[in-house]
Amino acid sequence: EKDTIILAFESSCDETSVALVKNGSEVLAQSTATQIKSHQRFGGVVPEVASRHHIEQIIGCLDDVFQETGLAYDDLSAIAVTYGPGLVGALLVGVSAAKAVAFAHGLPLVPVNHMAGHIYAARYSAPIEFPTLALLVSGGHTELVYMPKENEYQIIGETRDDACGEAFDKIGRVLGLNYPAGKEIDELAHQGKDTFNFPRAMEKEDNFDFSFSGLKSAFINTVHHADQIGEKLSQADLAASFQQSVVDVLSEKTLRALQKYPVKQLILAGGVAANSELRARLKEECSKLSGLALIEAPLKYCGDNAAMIGAAGYVAYKHGVRGDMSLNAEPGLEF
Ligand code: KG4
Ligand code: ZN
Repeated sequence: EKDTIILAFESSCDETSVALVKNGSEVLAQSTATQIKSHQRFGGVVPEVASRHHIEQIIGCLDDVFQETGLAYDDLSAIAVTYGPGLVGALLVGVSAAKAVAFAHGLPLVPVNHMAGHIYAARYSAPIEFPTLALLVSGGHTELVYMPKENEYQIIGETRDDACGEAFDKIGRVLGLNYPAGKEIDELAHQGKDTFNFPRAMEKEDNFDFSFSGLKSAFINTVHHADQIGEKLSQADLAASFQQSVVDVLSEKTLRALQKYPVKQLILAGGVAANSELRARLKEECSKLSGLALIEAPLKYCGDNAAMIGAAGYVAYKHGVRGDMSLNAEPGLEF
């Protein structure tokens, strides 16, 4: 049978990424242009700046993947693109580029949900077996997604306020760290201990939802109070305490979900899935639940990238999902 080669676009936030993916499981080439430096001075992503960067970068990324592989449009089966959720102006750049090449070369267009992309990043670690549960933790989302079968997604729990990565970034700001702060907090936490015992919101509640705004407030109040009385707190202990609280709730809620939804695998995906403490903790918990495989998205595909869109796009393509020239960006897209 002929290989299915998909050209994938991702531009939902601050990474412009284009990839060529074979059979949904092999990255032939990927080119990603990050804009983090341009947003750092503002302490977060500025939508207008993001859109402009995407426009400047996307054609270069597209050229890169063809140059690297020597492939031509004739070799492709379909074009996959993130059409939501994300920043509308940013998404529109990828959607427009994908529509243009699909139209010009008479190729099928496959719209992909960015969050499905994050889940399918795990495909680059191991084949996905169903039913499966995904803990999706990124800068914009914190969700437990149950997948009874391929291409079926049910959100069984989500954050009621801040996303998990957003909380990392916000408390990072209070610690004077650059945006995005997750990786640096992860590293700082290694040198500290959980001495502050911050709240674990909703940990014991009988649902699969999360809340991180109370933790964020408790953290900020602790730092401000110390400032006022001139006390110097340990950055490392603050980071370790915050991270421990986040990891405790994420793991508690995930274990609770696994009791109600027996699955073959637990998938850990999204930008925060790069967190070393979270990875270690879930690995330990899964080893206690005999027979449960933990599939972690490879570190290099945890953050936003087009390879994951190519993997999710392959599944959607096989299931007959198609878009046409009326495809639009859907910033608030849900499963
Ligand atoms: O999935 P992603 O690249 O973008 C979104 O779709 O949101 O996630 C980015 C988020 C940021 O909030 C960043 O601080 C966080 O992932 N992050 C981490 C780590 N690496 C990235 N959070 C905790 N620990 C890390 N090692
Ligand atoms: Zn993302």
